[in-house]
Amino acid sequence: MRLLVTGGAGYVGSVVARRLRAAGHETVILDDLSTGHRAAVERPDDLVQGDFGDRLRVGGLLEARRIDAVVHLAASCLVGESVADPAAYYRNNLERSLALLDRMRQAGVLRFVLSSTAAVYGEPAALPIDEDHPTRPANPYGDTKLALERALHWYHAAHGLRFVALRYFNAAGATSDGALGEDHRPESHLVPNVLRAALTGEPVPIFGSDYPTPDGTAVRDYVHVEDLAEAHLAALRRLESRAAGESFNLGNGHGFSVLQVIETARRVTGRPIPVRPAGRRPGDPGTLVASAQRARRELGWAPRFAELGAILETAWRFLRQHPDGYSA
Ligand SMILES: NC(=O)c1ccc[n+]([C@@H]2O[C@H](COP(=O)([O-])OP(=O)(O)OC[C@H]3O[C@@H](n4cnc5c(N)ncnc54)[C@H](O)[C@@H]3O)[C@@H](O)[C@H]2O)c1
Repeated sequence: MRLLVTGGAGYVGSVVARRLRAAGHETVILDDLSTGHRAAVERPDDLVQGDFGDRLRVGGLLEARRIDAVVHLAASCLVGESVADPAAYYRNNLERSLALLDRMRQAGVLRFVLSSTAAVYGEPAALPIDEDHPTRPANPYGDTKLALERALHWYHAAHGLRFVALRYFNAAGATSDGALGEDHRPESHLVPNVLRAALTGEPVPIFGSDYPTPDGTAVRDYVHVEDLAEAHLAALRRLESRAAGESFNLGNGHGFSVLQVIETARRVTGRPIPVRPAGRRPGDPGTLVASAQRARRELGWAPRFAELGAILETAWRFLRQHPDGYSA
């Protein structure tokens, strides 16, 4: 298929684009490089630098490149920033995505894979979280993704748009060759911050140690970025065979606390990792663990990286190859 991959210069998008090409698809990457990196696009000719909400630009691309489906990873995705500036999040993640969908509809492109998030659920009422769990986002970021999923259901009903929304839990790790990995600025994710602390000796903050978890620190479900990429392929296959609009959780089904991640990182890197206590971050639930049974059953998705240590090893390889990030 010929695929438009928005956000393909970002962390998850760069790995997804590589996997889609390896499976024989053609990719056009649309990214404004607001948080992504030119160097994360492995085939520079694939990159179109621009805004996915730019109707003229997107319309031209869909038609000239005869796009069959859109894989939509581009978004603003910092929880704290979304709390401070909700309008920017509704504009980028919702309003611009609706513009993209309208242009798709006009061009007759009716297949769509969305990067959604565990943040659509909010504070869990039951664990593990399956797709029938109530959706009560605790921050604007999660709410914009949920609103977009809802809009997709109505586009499906009204216009026959086929979509799969993939609700990632915590993406982590890097490609096994260490070439593509996580380089957010600022970095709000635990794994890269812990590994950077191993590299620099700067203490890593622990946001909250009074959660109702076994060691008091927050528990998350870490899923390897290459496993996420694999799910996008499965989603595209699903869209070829079914006209449905569906959402799937993607996680390993195991929770690890902040302290467990740090302990594993000490083992993987062989270095001491200093820590400093810090308060809870607003909107951060104590525990988020996925049930991804639906993705396993319906998409045939089976994550290869179940071991936290194996996930961290790939991220550590990326960091050692890119100690200054992609700018190096
Ligand atoms: N990283 C995670 O743990 C995680 C978890 C759940 C969901 N997600 C979702 O996965 C997707 C990718 O996340 P990521 O961690 O790779 O983030 P990222 O910031 O690395 O990638 C997002 C990309 O989108 C681009 N972008 C943003 N707005 C754009 C616009 N208007 N036009 C064109 N390009 C634009 C950025 O330049 C960047 O390259 C996001 O939709 C995010 O919400 C990520």
